[in-house]
Amino acid sequence: MSSQSADPLAADTRTIDPLAADASIVPSPTPKAPGAVASDHGQAPEWWRDAVVYQVYPRSFADADGDGMGDLAGITAHLPHLAALGVDAVWLSPFYTSPQKDAGYDVADYMDVDPRFGTLADADELFARAHALGLRVIVDIVPNHSSDQHPLFQEALAAAPGSPEREMYVFRDGRGEHGELPPNNWTSIFHGPAWTRVTEADGAPGQWYLHIFDTSQPDWNWENPEVRAMFRDVLRFWLERGADGFRVDVAHGMIKPEGLPDATVNSEGLIDIPDGEVPVYFDNDGVLDIYREWRPILDAYPGDRMMVLEAWIPERRLPLYIGAEKAHQSFNFGFLQARWDVGALRAAIEKPLALADAVQSPTTWVLSNHDVIRHASRFGFPPEHSFGEGLARDEEPDAALGLLRARAASLLMLSLPGAAYLYQGEELGLPEVREIPDELREDPAHKRAGVPGRDGCRVPLPWLHDAPAYGFSPSGRSWLPQPPEFADLAADIQAEDPDSTLEMYRRALSLRHELELGRHERPVSFLEGLPDGVLGVGRGDLVVLVNTTGRSVRVDEDPRFAGARVLIASHEDDATGLRALPADTTLWLSTAGAR
Ligand code: GLC
Repeated sequence: MSSQSADPLAADTRTIDPLAADASIVPSPTPKAPGAVASDHGQAPEWWRDAVVYQVYPRSFADADGDGMGDLAGITAHLPHLAALGVDAVWLSPFYTSPQKDAGYDVADYMDVDPRFGTLADADELFARAHALGLRVIVDIVPNHSSDQHPLFQEALAAAPGSPEREMYVFRDGRGEHGELPPNNWTSIFHGPAWTRVTEADGAPGQWYLHIFDTSQPDWNWENPEVRAMFRDVLRFWLERGADGFRVDVAHGMIKPEGLPDATVNSEGLIDIPDGEVPVYFDNDGVLDIYREWRPILDAYPGDRMMVLEAWIPERRLPLYIGAEKAHQSFNFGFLQARWDVGALRAAIEKPLALADAVQSPTTWVLSNHDVIRHASRFGFPPEHSFGEGLARDEEPDAALGLLRARAASLLMLSLPGAAYLYQGEELGLPEVREIPDELREDPAHKRAGVPGRDGCRVPLPWLHDAPAYGFSPSGRSWLPQPPEFADLAADIQAEDPDSTLEMYRRALSLRHELELGRHERPVSFLEGLPDGVLGVGRGDLVVLVNTTGRSVRVDEDPRFAGARVLIASHEDDATGLRALPADTTLWLSTAGAR
C-alpha cells in the first residue's frame, strides 16, 4: 500500500519526550473503500512478502447464530473491524467438518464446512466480503492427519490388514508375541503413546495405527500416491473458491523415517529431543518433495497464491523448505520464544534476517497464536518461564507488566521487514485466561496429560463491554467462560481510547504501511552504544528503541536522536517527567531532518 500523502516521518512535530506525544497526529486508517480495493485484489505482486496477516480462530472470533461457538457468518460480519485495523490478510484456522476433538485440527471432510461454523455458501460469502474489503484469505490445511471420523479412516478400520484401505493410513502389526506392544516406542506430541490398537472385524485385537497427535487424529500415509492425489485436489478445491493461500499445519510431519525406527526416550519415557532438534518423526527430507509438488499447483492460479508453513524445525533446515520452487514462507518461532532482553531479542531478529537473505524470501514474525500462551501474559512471567505450557498452574503472571512488555514487543515486531502474523485478541492486549474449570477445557493435551493446555488463549473475544458474552454471541453463550476483566478490554471501549492497545496497533499498522517497513529494501541495522537494556533498530530514518529494563532511560543526550520526533510509543509514562524512554517501552523515532 502506498500513500499519496507527505512523508509520515516528517508528519509529526513531537520531540523525543513521550510526554509530548499527541495521539491525534497519526490518524487511524480509514477503512479501505470496497470498490477501489476490490479491483486491486490479486494484483499486488508477492503481497505475502510484507503482509500483516490476522489469525482468526473461528470458534472464538464471533458467534452469529447464538450457539456459543463462533462461526463464518460472525467472521464475515466483523471483517470491517479487521480492514479498519489495517491488516492485509486473514488466516482462518480450520472450519471444516470435524468432531472437534482438537478444535478442528481433526478434519473429517476437507472440502466442506462444519455445520457449527456454517456452510460452503457462508465460506463463499466470507471470501467475497474479505476480497471486497481488500483483505486476502489464507485457509488452514491439515495434511499430516485426519479425524478418526474421516470416511477413509472408517473404511480402513473396517478393512483387513494389508488392504488398500489400510494403506491410506499408517497401520502396523504390533510387537510382542501377540502383537500386544506398539510397533515402536514413539510418543505423541499430546503425551502418551503415538499408537492405538484397533479391534479387527472378527472382534480380536488387531493392528496399531500411528497418531503423532491425539488418538482421534490418525496420520495419513504420504508414501501412498492416493493420499498425495487427494491433497492436490483439496488445494485446488480451495484455490478455486478464492483462497489466497494456505497455512500448512504440522508442515514438517508428513513423511516418517523409513522403517519407523525406535527413538531415544528420556527418563519420563517421552521421545528425547536434544536442544534445537525435533522428534524423529519430524523434518524428514521426503517432506520437502510435497512442497515441490504443491508449488506449481498454486502458481497455476492468478494472484500470487501462497503457502506458509507451520514447521518447528531447526533454523539451519529452513532453506530446504523455502524458495521459488518450494514453500513461500515459514513461521519464525524463534522470535516468539525470545526472552525479554536485548541479547535474546537481537539474536531473534538477526538470525531470521540472515536466513531470509539466504533463501531470498522475507522472514515472518509472530508473537502469539492459538497454541501458545498469549504474549500479554507470557511476558508477565519471569523470563525463564516466558514460553511453553510447563508453567505451574499456581504461578500468576504480572498482568500489568506483561501487557506493557507485550505492547513493546508488538511495536518492535511491526517495525521489522517481512510478514507479521497477529493472533486475534492480541490487538486488544488480551491475557491468557487461567480460570477455566477443568471440565470445560477442551484441549486434548489437557485431557491426555492433565496439563493446563491451550484453552486459555482461545477464549472468545470481547467486542462490547456491556453486552452478554461481551458481544461475542447474541445469546450470551460462550463455549469457554470469559473472565470479568474482558469488559475493560472490549473492542468498543478500546476504540474510544487513544491510549488503548487497539489504537496502538491501528496506528502502528498505518505507519508500517505508509513507511513500507515490511519491505526488505529498507535493511535493518542495530545501533551500538545505547544504555544497557536498550535495543536500537535502525530502518533508514526510522529508529526503533526498545527499553527492556524496568526503569526509564535517558536517551535525549544521545546526539543521534537530537531533534528526533516520536512517531508512536507503546506506552506513555507521565510518572517520570524525564525526556526519556519509559520502562519496558518501544518508541519509533523519526530522525529525518534531525541534527
Ligand atoms: C498444529 C496446530 C495445533 C494442532 C496440531 C495438530 O500444531 O497449530 O493447534 O493441535 O497442529 O493438528
